[in-house]
Amino acid sequence: MEYDTLSNGLRLPKVGFGTYKTEGGEGTRVVTQALEAGYRLLDTASFYGNEEAVGEGICQSGIPREELLLTSKAWRTEMGYENILAAFERSCRRLGVEYLDLYLLHWPRVPWSDPDWKRHNAESWRALEELYRAGRVRAIGVSNFLPEHLDALLETAELCPMVNQIEYHPGWNQPQVLDWCRAHGTLVEAWSPMGRRRVLEHPLVVELAEKYGLSPAQLCIRFALENGVQPLPKSSSPERMRENLDVFRVSLTAEDVCRLNAMEPAGWSGLDPRRMGME
Ligand SMILES: NC(=O)c1ccc[n+]([C@@H]2O[C@H](COP(=O)([O-])OP(=O)(O)OC[C@H]3O[C@@H](n4cnc5c(N)ncnc54)[C@H](OP(=O)(O)O)[C@@H]3O)[C@@H](O)[C@H]2O)c1
Repeated sequence: MEYDTLSNGLRLPKVGFGTYKTEGGEGTRVVTQALEAGYRLLDTASFYGNEEAVGEGICQSGIPREELLLTSKAWRTEMGYENILAAFERSCRRLGVEYLDLYLLHWPRVPWSDPDWKRHNAESWRALEELYRAGRVRAIGVSNFLPEHLDALLETAELCPMVNQIEYHPGWNQPQVLDWCRAHGTLVEAWSPMGRRRVLEHPLVVELAEKYGLSPAQLCIRFALENGVQPLPKSSSPERMRENLDVFRVSLTAEDVCRLNAMEPAGWSGLDPRRMGME
């Protein structure tokens, strides 16, 4: 496995494993099989309702905690200084761990639904900084933050987010967010790196997959890697878990990366951070 290095020196495997929509016994099975397939970075969130299942999968795998990297996220309803500190403890308890490797704010508060959005983001971030300084989490970041949310956060932040996890796949590559993150040393993680299958039949994806002897899913994962983005594919099948990790034998030419970067919008989830409510 190859690694990315965060701005604080923490090394993360270049491909992580997504766990959204795998709950209960099925979630536990998927996590143990993903670890068996070779994944060492697991992505979960309080919102997924599967932290216990993920924790049980880790336990059953027998892999020592320190060999794994574990991400969780605070949901929109958990924002606020005290709320975040409590949410972090709940996530650790459900996962059965003493510390997290990465803890993220799942979605920003935004002006569309929260007039006091800047302060709520800033206070939540201050809680993450405190958890980081106390050694409870090895790196901190955000998810679904656009440049306007990031700039506002930096008005009061002492630490710049080390990670920003965003929707990212061919047909939805959010170049302005990437530019901001590159300029600030923030690693971009790709959620839905295959657009939840929506881009797997796109003619350009199929054409380039054939050219490189990759499956369309592998081509999407390779696309993220070529742009310095860390993909978090999710699969419930051991065969596809292995397929999605087997992406280091070829690289794409700069010209083909440009073609994919320039692809028309395709496969977007429709989840616009500017228009998300508070629930
Ligand atoms: N921060 C956020 O707001 C946010 C939002 C959404 C997701 N995420 C994270 O990102 C992770 C990944 O995103 P995602 O689950 O939405 O989408 P995804 O990984 O792009 O797609 C998952 C879908 O693709 C299928 N699949 C997986 N490998 C395949 C392959 N090799 N060939 C064909 N189909 C394949 C899976 O089916 P099978 O299971 O049957 O293989 C599943 O239906 C999530 O699990 C979660 O951890 C974060």
